[in-house]
Amino acid sequence: MKSMSTPFSFLHHLTCARCHEIYEADTQAHLCQCGSPLLASYDLEAAREHLSKEMLREREPSLWRYHELLPVRSPENVVTLGEGMTPLLPLPRLGAQLDMPQLYVKDEGTIPTGSFKARGAAVGVSRAKELGVKTLAMPTNGNAGGAWATYAARAGLDTYIVMPEEAPLITRNECAISGAHLFLVQGLISDAGAIVGRAVKAHQWYDASTLKEPYRIEGKKTMGYEIAEQFNWQVPDVILYPTGGGVGIIGIYKALREMQALGWIGERLPRLVAVQAEECAPIVKAWQEGKTESVLWPHSRTIAFGINVPKALGDFLVLDAIRATQGCALAVSDTELLAAQAQLAQTEGLFICPEGAATLVAAKQLRASGWIKADERVVLLNTGSGIKYPNTVQVSVPLLQPQDELPVSIAG
Ligand SMILES: Cc1ncc(COP(=O)(O)O)c(C=O)c1O
Ligand SMILES: [Zn+2]
Repeated sequence: MKSMSTPFSFLHHLTCARCHEIYEADTQAHLCQCGSPLLASYDLEAAREHLSKEMLREREPSLWRYHELLPVRSPENVVTLGEGMTPLLPLPRLGAQLDMPQLYVKDEGTIPTGSFKARGAAVGVSRAKELGVKTLAMPTNGNAGGAWATYAARAGLDTYIVMPEEAPLITRNECAISGAHLFLVQGLISDAGAIVGRAVKAHQWYDASTLKEPYRIEGKKTMGYEIAEQFNWQVPDVILYPTGGGVGIIGIYKALREMQALGWIGERLPRLVAVQAEECAPIVKAWQEGKTESVLWPHSRTIAFGINVPKALGDFLVLDAIRATQGCALAVSDTELLAAQAQLAQTEGLFICPEGAATLVAAKQLRASGWIKADERVVLLNTGSGIKYPNTVQVSVPLLQPQDELPVSIAG
């Protein structure tokens, strides 16, 4: 009998997240006929036989350590800058102040391109390259554009990107330096999406919009695998996630279900919390009203630009994930999240992005209401580096002349 070698990926087919129609995985695919996102399905029984969590110990500290559970079939198509296995840091000083002694941050600020969007871009671009894509297009709130432009440059793909003119300036520069065709729109990400939608139709480009191709989420789900592995396969009690398009939280939930099927974690799941901004909280509103889908949020705005998404294509999946894990959704104000950003920098030396800071505000509120108990293990997902948002910090610094002494009083 011929011995079969273990495949690099156990990707099996694509499944519609709403009507469960099945699609073949090895051609370029976008939405289901019913208009909903397609999700990658793996042969998890075979994966369970061939792969054990112990085998991971020897592997490189990048998200590709989970390659059997990622969609890229052949290692030659992997486009990587070393993304993944970001630190899971305890926050002892802040945790003591807030009566959450087991408070942690999963810090995506250290990943290439400075945001967790690198995960989706690495896997999405690798798979696009594998499927023969030459040109891709996407709308973005900034970080995803920067990440996709970067990885597409490494893969030699041509990229068209449209972002709101108010998106963080640095993400514009990332796209430009990487040679992407960049356009700004006077409007929101939803307006950018409409422009991209017309262009992909007209030019037959690959539409890399959030959840309009099935593989970006596969990169993002690795945050879930990493959190479980970093806690030695004992999942935490609560994970708080800053939710815009929702891909991160849907991905983490998908990873949790896959890990259960693989026998890597037990029955108990962390309660997933979707955190939004008060002036852009469509998913929170839907959750409070017991709805299964959100309604477009008019005139949305927040300084946490990545979560300024007035209507997410995958809103029903976010709401599913929250409900299935007995989680919740809540909104926080810009004033509170800016204060939390400074508090984390001052107590723990972490300059996180405003989106990540929103999760700290939410954790405080949930601890105060008793929803989070003092003995619970709580993970804040910091989705990016504060360094990408220099303008969120207001500084007023004294200017000295070369002959001046430092105007400080030295005690004692
Ligand atoms: C820093 C940051 N955090 C969070 C998000 C929201 O991501 P998701 O689509 O996973 O909800 C974004 C999206 O642009 C982002 O840039
Ligand atoms: Zn469908």
